[in-house]
Amino acid sequence: MLQNNLMNKIKAKAKGKKRTIVLPESHDERVLKAAGILLNEKICSVITIGNEQKILEDAERMNLNLSGIKIYDQDNSEKTEKFSKIFYEMRKTKGVTPESAREIIQRDLFFGAMLVKEGLADGSVAGSTASTGDVLRAALQCVGMPEGISVVSSFFMMIFPEKVYSFADCAVVPDPTSIQLADIAISTAENHRKLTGEEPFVTMLSFSTKGSAKHPLVDKVTEAMAILNSKRPDINADGEFQFDTAIVESVGLRKAPGSKVAGKANVLVFPDLNAGNIGYKIAQRLGGAEAVGPVVQGLKKPLFDLSRGCSVDDIVNTSAIAVLMS
Ligand code: ACO
Repeated sequence: MLQNNLMNKIKAKAKGKKRTIVLPESHDERVLKAAGILLNEKICSVITIGNEQKILEDAERMNLNLSGIKIYDQDNSEKTEKFSKIFYEMRKTKGVTPESAREIIQRDLFFGAMLVKEGLADGSVAGSTASTGDVLRAALQCVGMPEGISVVSSFFMMIFPEKVYSFADCAVVPDPTSIQLADIAISTAENHRKLTGEEPFVTMLSFSTKGSAKHPLVDKVTEAMAILNSKRPDINADGEFQFDTAIVESVGLRKAPGSKVAGKANVLVFPDLNAGNIGYKIAQRLGGAEAVGPVVQGLKKPLFDLSRGCSVDDIVNTSAIAVLMS
Protein backbone atom coordinates (compact mmCIF):
# COMPACT_ATOMS: atom_id res chain seq x y z
CA MET A 1 0.00 0.00 0.00
CA LEU A 2 2.78 2.40 1.00
CA GLN A 3 4.61 1.46 -2.20
CA ASN A 4 1.58 2.29 -4.33
CA ASN A 5 1.17 5.62 -2.54
CA LEU A 6 4.83 6.53 -2.88
CA MET A 7 5.07 5.49 -6.53
CA ASN A 8 1.83 7.28 -7.39
CA LYS A 9 3.22 10.46 -5.82
CA ILE A 10 6.49 10.06 -7.74
CA LYS A 11 4.62 9.47 -11.02
CA ALA A 12 2.33 12.46 -10.44
CA LYS A 13 5.34 14.71 -9.80
CA ALA A 14 7.13 13.30 -12.88
CA LYS A 15 4.20 14.26 -15.16
CA GLY A 16 4.74 17.97 -14.50
CA LYS A 17 8.43 17.89 -15.44
CA LYS A 18 8.12 17.15 -19.17
CA ARG A 19 11.28 15.08 -19.40
CA THR A 20 12.54 12.58 -21.99
CA ILE A 21 13.82 9.15 -20.97
CA VAL A 22 15.68 6.75 -23.24
CA LEU A 23 14.86 3.04 -22.91
CA PRO A 24 17.54 1.54 -25.17
CA GLU A 25 16.57 -2.15 -25.16
CA SER A 26 13.78 -2.12 -27.77
CA HIS A 27 14.25 -5.86 -28.46
CA ASP A 28 12.67 -6.57 -25.04
CA GLU A 29 8.84 -6.70 -25.10
CA ARG A 30 8.71 -5.43 -21.49
CA VAL A 31 10.53 -2.27 -22.58
CA LEU A 32 8.05 -1.57 -25.38
CA LYS A 33 5.11 -2.19 -23.02
CA ALA A 34 6.64 0.19 -20.45
CA ALA A 35 7.22 2.78 -23.20
CA GLY A 36 3.52 2.54 -24.07
CA ILE A 37 2.47 3.16 -20.44
CA LEU A 38 4.91 6.06 -19.99
CA LEU A 39 3.65 7.73 -23.16
CA ASN A 40 -0.05 7.09 -22.61
CA GLU A 41 0.05 8.21 -18.95
CA LYS A 42 2.19 11.21 -20.03
CA ILE A 43 4.83 10.45 -17.37
CA CYS A 44 7.59 11.38 -19.86
CA SER A 45 8.52 11.36 -23.53
CA VAL A 46 10.31 8.20 -24.61
CA ILE A 47 13.20 7.45 -26.95
CA THR A 48 14.16 3.92 -27.93
CA ILE A 49 16.94 2.50 -30.07
CA GLY A 50 16.82 0.00 -32.91
CA ASN A 51 15.29 -0.62 -36.33
CA GLU A 52 12.19 1.55 -36.61
CA GLN A 53 10.22 -0.81 -38.85
CA LYS A 54 10.84 -3.78 -36.55
CA ILE A 55 9.91 -1.80 -33.44
CA LEU A 56 6.67 -0.55 -34.98
CA GLU A 57 5.78 -4.06 -36.20
CA ASP A 58 6.46 -5.46 -32.71
CA ALA A 59 4.27 -2.75 -31.19
CA GLU A 60 1.43 -3.54 -33.60
CA ARG A 61 1.68 -7.27 -32.87
CA MET A 62 1.48 -6.48 -29.13
CA ASN A 63 -1.37 -4.06 -29.71
CA LEU A 64 0.59 -1.18 -28.19
CA ASN A 65 0.07 2.49 -28.87
CA LEU A 66 3.56 3.99 -29.14
CA SER A 67 2.52 7.24 -30.81
CA GLY A 68 4.99 9.99 -30.01
CA ILE A 69 7.94 7.64 -29.42
CA LYS A 70 11.25 8.75 -30.95
CA ILE A 71 13.40 5.99 -32.46
CA TYR A 72 17.10 6.14 -33.31
CA ASP A 73 18.57 3.35 -35.43
CA GLN A 74 22.14 3.08 -34.18
CA ASP A 75 23.23 1.42 -37.44
CA ASN A 76 21.91 4.16 -39.73
CA SER A 77 21.51 7.32 -37.63
CA GLU A 78 23.40 10.49 -38.53
CA LYS A 79 24.20 10.67 -34.80
CA THR A 80 26.32 7.48 -34.96
CA GLU A 81 29.27 9.21 -36.64
CA LYS A 82 29.08 12.22 -34.30
CA PHE A 83 28.81 10.10 -31.14
CA SER A 84 31.67 7.85 -32.29
CA LYS A 85 33.95 10.90 -32.72
CA ILE A 86 33.01 12.28 -29.29
CA PHE A 87 33.52 8.89 -27.67
CA TYR A 88 36.89 8.43 -29.40
CA GLU A 89 38.08 11.84 -28.12
CA MET A 90 36.96 10.99 -24.56
CA ARG A 91 38.47 7.50 -24.47
CA LYS A 92 41.49 7.59 -26.83
CA THR A 93 43.94 7.65 -23.92
CA LYS A 94 42.26 4.43 -22.70
CA GLY A 95 43.11 2.53 -25.89
CA VAL A 96 39.94 3.28 -27.87
CA THR A 97 40.54 3.66 -31.65
CA PRO A 98 38.21 5.39 -34.17
CA GLU A 99 37.08 1.94 -35.36
CA SER A 100 36.43 0.54 -31.87
CA ALA A 101 34.62 3.77 -30.89
CA ARG A 102 32.14 3.24 -33.72
CA GLU A 103 31.65 -0.40 -32.76
CA ILE A 104 31.03 0.60 -29.11
CA ILE A 105 28.60 3.41 -30.01
CA GLN A 106 26.53 0.99 -32.12
CA ARG A 107 25.72 -0.91 -28.91
CA ASP A 108 22.33 0.25 -27.70
CA LEU A 109 23.51 0.94 -24.10
CA PHE A 110 26.30 3.25 -25.27
CA PHE A 111 24.17 4.97 -27.94
CA GLY A 112 21.55 5.60 -25.23
CA ALA A 113 24.13 6.94 -22.78
CA MET A 114 25.45 9.31 -25.47
CA LEU A 115 21.93 10.63 -26.11
CA VAL A 116 21.84 11.56 -22.42
CA LYS A 117 25.35 13.03 -22.44
CA GLU A 118 24.48 15.17 -25.48
CA GLY A 119 21.25 16.45 -23.90
CA LEU A 120 18.87 14.69 -26.32
CA ALA A 121 17.43 12.74 -23.38
CA ASP A 122 17.25 13.65 -19.69
CA GLY A 123 17.95 10.13 -18.42
CA SER A 124 18.25 6.47 -19.36
CA VAL A 125 16.77 3.27 -17.91
CA ALA A 126 18.45 0.07 -19.09
CA GLY A 127 19.41 -3.39 -17.93
CA SER A 128 16.32 -5.51 -18.55
CA THR A 129 18.54 -7.63 -20.81
CA ALA A 130 22.07 -6.37 -19.91
CA SER A 131 24.16 -6.94 -16.79
CA THR A 132 24.59 -4.26 -14.11
CA GLY A 133 28.29 -4.01 -15.00
CA ASP A 134 27.54 -3.33 -18.69
CA VAL A 135 24.92 -0.67 -17.89
CA LEU A 136 27.22 1.07 -15.40
CA ARG A 137 30.25 0.97 -17.71
CA ALA A 138 28.27 2.74 -20.47
CA ALA A 139 27.14 5.35 -17.89
CA LEU A 140 30.61 5.86 -16.39
CA GLN A 141 32.40 6.05 -19.74
CA CYS A 142 29.89 8.32 -21.55
CA VAL A 143 28.41 10.55 -18.83
CA GLY A 144 30.74 10.39 -15.79
CA MET A 145 30.55 12.32 -12.53
CA PRO A 146 30.08 16.04 -11.82
CA GLU A 147 32.80 18.11 -10.07
CA GLY A 148 33.13 17.28 -6.38
CA ILE A 149 31.68 13.74 -6.53
CA SER A 150 34.18 10.96 -5.85
CA VAL A 151 32.10 7.89 -6.61
CA VAL A 152 29.12 6.54 -8.50
CA SER A 153 27.03 4.35 -6.24
CA SER A 154 23.43 3.26 -5.75
CA PHE A 155 20.65 2.83 -3.27
CA PHE A 156 17.45 0.86 -2.96
CA MET A 157 14.24 2.25 -1.53
CA MET A 158 13.10 -0.59 0.72
CA ILE A 159 9.39 -0.16 1.25
CA PHE A 160 7.78 -1.78 4.30
CA PRO A 161 4.11 -1.33 5.20
CA GLU A 162 4.91 1.40 7.76
CA LYS A 163 8.20 2.91 6.68
CA VAL A 164 10.55 3.53 3.74
CA TYR A 165 14.29 2.97 4.21
CA SER A 166 17.10 3.77 1.78
CA PHE A 167 19.81 1.07 1.72
CA ALA A 168 23.23 1.90 0.17
CA ASP A 169 25.32 0.80 -1.59
CA CYS A 170 23.84 -2.52 -2.62
CA ALA A 171 24.79 -2.71 -6.30
CA VAL A 172 27.82 -0.74 -7.52
CA VAL A 173 30.98 -0.20 -5.41
CA PRO A 174 32.48 -3.51 -4.25
CA ASP A 175 34.81 -2.18 -1.52
CA PRO A 176 34.38 1.56 -0.88
CA THR A 177 37.08 3.56 0.93
CA SER A 178 36.02 5.59 3.97
CA ILE A 179 35.95 8.74 1.79
CA GLN A 180 33.70 6.96 -0.71
CA LEU A 181 31.46 5.63 2.11
CA ALA A 182 30.95 9.18 3.38
CA ASP A 183 30.04 10.34 -0.16
CA ILE A 184 27.64 7.41 -0.57
CA ALA A 185 25.95 8.49 2.69
CA ILE A 186 25.65 12.13 1.55
CA SER A 187 24.20 11.23 -1.88
CA THR A 188 21.76 8.74 -0.38
CA ALA A 189 20.59 11.20 2.29
CA GLU A 190 19.88 13.84 -0.36
CA ASN A 191 18.08 11.42 -2.64
CA HIS A 192 16.06 9.92 0.22
CA ARG A 193 14.74 13.41 0.93
CA LYS A 194 14.11 14.11 -2.76
CA LEU A 195 12.15 10.90 -3.39
CA THR A 196 10.28 10.36 -0.10
CA GLY A 197 9.97 13.95 1.12
CA GLU A 198 11.19 12.77 4.55
CA GLU A 199 14.06 14.06 6.69
CA PRO A 200 16.99 11.61 6.38
CA PHE A 201 18.44 9.99 9.52
CA VAL A 202 21.69 8.40 8.36
CA THR A 203 23.64 5.61 9.97
CA MET A 204 26.93 3.89 9.09
CA LEU A 205 26.42 0.17 9.69
CA SER A 206 29.00 -2.19 11.18
CA PHE A 207 29.28 -5.24 13.40
CA SER A 208 30.29 -2.79 16.17
CA THR A 209 28.33 -0.09 18.03
CA LYS A 210 30.36 2.93 19.16
CA GLY A 211 33.60 1.05 19.73
CA SER A 212 32.14 -2.22 21.08
CA ALA A 213 34.50 -4.11 18.72
CA LYS A 214 38.03 -3.26 17.55
CA HIS A 215 38.99 -4.25 14.00
CA PRO A 216 40.30 -2.59 10.82
CA LEU A 217 36.88 -3.23 9.22
CA VAL A 218 35.33 -1.14 12.00
CA ASP A 219 38.01 1.57 11.63
CA LYS A 220 36.96 2.10 8.00
CA VAL A 221 33.41 2.81 9.13
CA THR A 222 34.37 5.13 12.03
CA GLU A 223 36.65 7.07 9.66
CA ALA A 224 33.78 7.38 7.19
CA MET A 225 31.56 8.66 10.01
CA ALA A 226 34.12 11.33 10.95
CA ILE A 227 34.46 12.43 7.30
CA LEU A 228 30.68 12.61 6.93
CA ASN A 229 30.34 14.72 10.10
CA SER A 230 33.04 17.14 9.01
CA LYS A 231 31.79 17.42 5.40
CA ARG A 232 28.09 17.71 6.18
CA PRO A 233 27.40 18.61 9.82
CA ASP A 234 23.86 19.58 8.72
CA ILE A 235 22.92 15.93 8.05
CA ASN A 236 21.52 13.93 10.99
CA ALA A 237 24.04 11.09 11.05
CA ASP A 238 25.49 8.70 13.62
CA GLY A 239 27.45 5.46 13.85
CA GLU A 240 29.15 3.14 13.71
CA PHE A 241 26.02 1.20 14.65
CA GLN A 242 24.94 -2.40 14.48
CA PHE A 243 21.74 -2.88 12.52
CA ASP A 244 19.49 -3.27 15.58
CA THR A 245 20.93 -0.18 17.26
CA ALA A 246 20.14 1.75 14.09
CA ILE A 247 16.50 0.77 13.68
CA VAL A 248 15.09 -0.60 16.98
CA GLU A 249 14.25 2.22 19.38
CA SER A 250 14.70 0.22 22.61
CA VAL A 251 18.10 -1.10 21.46
CA GLY A 252 19.16 2.33 20.27
CA LEU A 253 18.29 3.87 23.64
CA ARG A 254 20.31 1.20 25.46
CA LYS A 255 23.38 1.04 23.20
CA ALA A 256 23.63 4.67 22.04
CA PRO A 257 21.84 6.86 24.58
CA GLY A 258 21.43 10.47 23.50
CA SER A 259 21.89 9.70 19.78
CA LYS A 260 19.59 11.60 17.38
CA VAL A 261 19.68 8.70 14.96
CA ALA A 262 19.85 5.44 16.94
CA GLY A 263 16.55 3.57 16.75
CA LYS A 264 15.12 5.74 13.98
CA ALA A 265 17.55 5.57 11.07
CA ASN A 266 15.98 5.59 7.61
CA VAL A 267 19.18 5.81 5.52
CA LEU A 268 21.33 2.72 6.13
CA VAL A 269 24.86 2.77 4.71
CA PHE A 270 26.47 -0.67 4.50
CA PRO A 271 30.26 -1.03 4.83
CA ASP A 272 30.75 -2.88 1.52
CA LEU A 273 28.91 -4.55 -1.36
CA ASN A 274 28.84 -8.01 0.23
CA ALA A 275 26.93 -6.62 3.22
CA GLY A 276 24.74 -4.27 1.14
CA ASN A 277 23.72 -6.70 -1.58
CA ILE A 278 23.04 -9.54 0.87
CA GLY A 279 21.29 -7.15 3.28
CA TYR A 280 18.80 -5.73 0.78
CA LYS A 281 17.95 -9.19 -0.54
CA ILE A 282 17.29 -10.48 3.01
CA ALA A 283 15.00 -7.50 3.67
CA GLN A 284 13.22 -8.17 0.38
CA ARG A 285 12.95 -11.97 0.46
CA LEU A 286 12.58 -12.70 4.19
CA GLY A 287 11.39 -9.30 5.42
CA GLY A 288 8.78 -8.81 2.69
CA ALA A 289 9.92 -5.32 1.66
CA GLU A 290 9.36 -4.01 -1.85
CA ALA A 291 12.76 -3.12 -3.26
CA VAL A 292 12.79 -0.18 -5.69
CA GLY A 293 16.15 0.24 -7.40
CA PRO A 294 19.03 0.13 -7.69
CA VAL A 295 18.78 3.89 -8.09
CA VAL A 296 22.19 4.88 -9.44
CA GLN A 297 23.57 8.11 -7.96
CA GLY A 298 26.65 10.27 -8.46
CA LEU A 299 26.46 10.55 -12.26
CA LYS A 300 26.07 13.91 -14.02
CA LYS A 301 22.66 12.73 -15.23
CA PRO A 302 20.45 9.79 -14.21
CA LEU A 303 21.25 6.51 -15.96
CA PHE A 304 19.53 3.72 -14.09
CA ASP A 305 20.00 0.00 -14.00
CA LEU A 306 17.21 -2.62 -14.01
CA SER A 307 17.34 -6.18 -12.80
CA ARG A 308 17.04 -8.70 -15.66
CA GLY A 309 14.06 -10.14 -13.78
CA CYS A 310 12.27 -6.77 -13.83
CA SER A 311 8.58 -6.36 -14.59
CA VAL A 312 6.97 -3.79 -16.88
CA ASP A 313 5.93 -1.86 -13.74
CA ASP A 314 9.55 -1.82 -12.53
CA ILE A 315 10.60 -0.16 -15.80
CA VAL A 316 7.79 2.41 -15.54
CA ASN A 317 8.58 3.16 -11.87
CA THR A 318 12.32 3.45 -12.47
CA SER A 319 11.68 5.81 -15.39
CA ALA A 320 9.50 8.02 -13.17
CA ILE A 321 12.29 8.13 -10.56
CA ALA A 322 14.78 9.05 -13.31
CA VAL A 323 12.49 11.94 -14.28
CA LEU A 324 12.46 13.26 -10.69
CA MET A 325 16.23 12.97 -10.39
CA SER A 326 16.92 14.76 -13.69
N1 ACO B 1 32.51 5.50 -9.34
C1 ACO B 1 33.23 6.33 -10.12
N2 ACO B 1 34.07 5.91 -11.11
C2 ACO B 1 34.14 4.59 -11.30
C3 ACO B 1 33.44 3.65 -10.53
C4 ACO B 1 32.58 4.16 -9.51
N3 ACO B 1 31.84 3.36 -8.74
N4 ACO B 1 33.73 2.41 -10.98
C5 ACO B 1 34.60 2.57 -12.00
N5 ACO B 1 34.85 3.88 -12.18
C6 ACO B 1 35.68 4.50 -13.20
C7 ACO B 1 36.92 3.69 -13.51
O1 ACO B 1 37.96 4.07 -12.64
C8 ACO B 1 37.18 4.07 -14.97
O2 ACO B 1 37.79 5.32 -15.01
P1 ACO B 1 38.78 5.63 -16.22
O3 ACO B 1 38.10 5.19 -17.45
O4 ACO B 1 39.00 7.09 -16.15
O5 ACO B 1 40.00 4.80 -15.95
C9 ACO B 1 35.78 4.28 -15.56
O6 ACO B 1 34.93 4.52 -14.43
C10 ACO B 1 35.29 3.11 -16.36
O7 ACO B 1 35.47 1.97 -15.59
P2 ACO B 1 35.61 0.52 -16.18
O8 ACO B 1 37.01 0.05 -16.02
O9 ACO B 1 35.04 0.47 -17.55
O10 ACO B 1 34.65 -0.24 -15.20
P3 ACO B 1 35.08 -1.16 -14.01
O11 ACO B 1 35.61 -2.40 -14.58
O12 ACO B 1 35.84 -0.40 -12.98
O13 ACO B 1 33.64 -1.53 -13.44
C11 ACO B 1 31.61 -1.41 -12.28
C12 ACO B 1 32.82 -0.62 -12.80
C13 ACO B 1 30.91 -2.01 -13.48
C14 ACO B 1 30.68 -0.46 -11.59
C15 ACO B 1 32.11 -2.53 -11.30
O14 ACO B 1 32.59 -1.94 -10.12
C16 ACO B 1 31.07 -3.55 -10.96
O15 ACO B 1 30.89 -4.50 -11.73
N6 ACO B 1 30.38 -3.40 -9.78
C17 ACO B 1 29.49 -4.39 -9.25
C18 ACO B 1 28.23 -4.52 -10.10
C19 ACO B 1 27.45 -5.73 -9.69
O16 ACO B 1 27.69 -6.80 -10.21
N7 ACO B 1 26.54 -5.55 -8.71
C20 ACO B 1 25.82 -6.59 -8.08
C21 ACO B 1 24.56 -6.97 -8.76
S1 ACO B 1 23.35 -5.70 -8.84
C22 ACO B 1 21.96 -6.27 -8.00
O17 ACO B 1 21.98 -7.22 -7.31
C23 ACO B 1 20.74 -5.46 -8.17
